[in-house]
Amino acid sequence: MNEPILELSGLTKVYSGGLKALDNVDLEIRRGEIFALLGPNGAGKTTLIGSVCGLVRPTGGSINAFGAGLDTTWRSARARIGLVPQEMATDMFETVWRAVSYSRGLFGLAPNKARIEEILRSLSLWDKRDAQIRELSGGMKRRVLIAKAMAHEPELLFLDEPTAGVDVELRKDMWRQIDEMRARGVTIILTTHYIEEAEEMADRVGIISKGRLLMVDEKAAMMTKLGLTEAHFALAAPLAQLPHELSRFSVELEKGGTSLRYRGGDGTGRGKAEVAELAKALVNAGIDFTGIDTRESSLEDIFVSLLGEEEVPA
Ligand SMILES: Nc1ncnc2c1ncn2[C@@H]1O[C@H](COP(=O)(O)OP(=O)(O)OP(=O)(O)O)[C@@H](O)[C@H]1O
Ligand SMILES: [Mg+2]
Repeated sequence: MNEPILELSGLTKVYSGGLKALDNVDLEIRRGEIFALLGPNGAGKTTLIGSVCGLVRPTGGSINAFGAGLDTTWRSARARIGLVPQEMATDMFETVWRAVSYSRGLFGLAPNKARIEEILRSLSLWDKRDAQIRELSGGMKRRVLIAKAMAHEPELLFLDEPTAGVDVELRKDMWRQIDEMRARGVTIILTTHYIEEAEEMADRVGIISKGRLLMVDEKAAMMTKLGLTEAHFALAAPLAQLPHELSRFSVELEKGGTSLRYRGGDGTGRGKAEVAELAKALVNAGIDFTGIDTRESSLEDIFVSLLGEEEVPA
């Protein structure tokens, strides 16, 4: 396992009005991973990122980056950290080319026209290189932010909702960009409202709500621990009651006995296998069925059940 590149310990932020946006957050990010931070509006995601990037002053806890306390190594550490902010804070009258080139210089890297061209082409911004940023569409502006972060070649990159407002096709393009950065060894922490994005991209997922990190785990482990399998067997003839042969399965009759519902596998990851066993048990018990509809719960279902439905973002 790679060494930690970022360690938050007891990180707390209370804003001046008294709102606790981060509540004692412990988190360790390892070099080379893609970590997705999922949480509803106002959960504290941007505050967490801002604390590491020097935009928010924490009220408690500590931040270690690249193996040293951030408070002592601030300048050198900051040059190794990239940020694609949620909000556009770039000079709107600057051209795309200059904004992206400037971002490289800001962190002390030598100019490299070929690299800038490569980045702009990869984000479909090459045709717009001489346009002022204010002349771009919302999705293009977001891509300029990504280009700026890539130009600076950071080791640790924060993407705060990188694909919000970006159309589906471009979102997939951006996922490829992110993958490519990972291949070059960049460690990536992204926040997103698109659970599909976390599911697609992330090695590990953290779920944050009201400033508290509720759960952090490998994506696959989280799915095994919390994921449910649900299956519906359409029965050839209705059943009045469950035969005892099926008592070891978590099943119940529904739709007036014409359908048998299985729900289970959470905590064991054995849902699919149990559905297969159940199918055999039905055959052995002489119960005929005409179809099976199986569904595994997604990260979204897990997210919803952890947070309670009323808190989930649209
Ligand atoms: N500068 C500030 N002053 C006071 N309160 C703030 C400030 N910035 C954020 N907050 C509050 O802190 C909480 C967390 O905000 P934050 O922006 O970190 O959430 P988020 O998870 O990024 O949400 P979103 O998904 O909407 O971007 C919110 O209740 C917000 O109103
Ligand atoms: Mg935010």
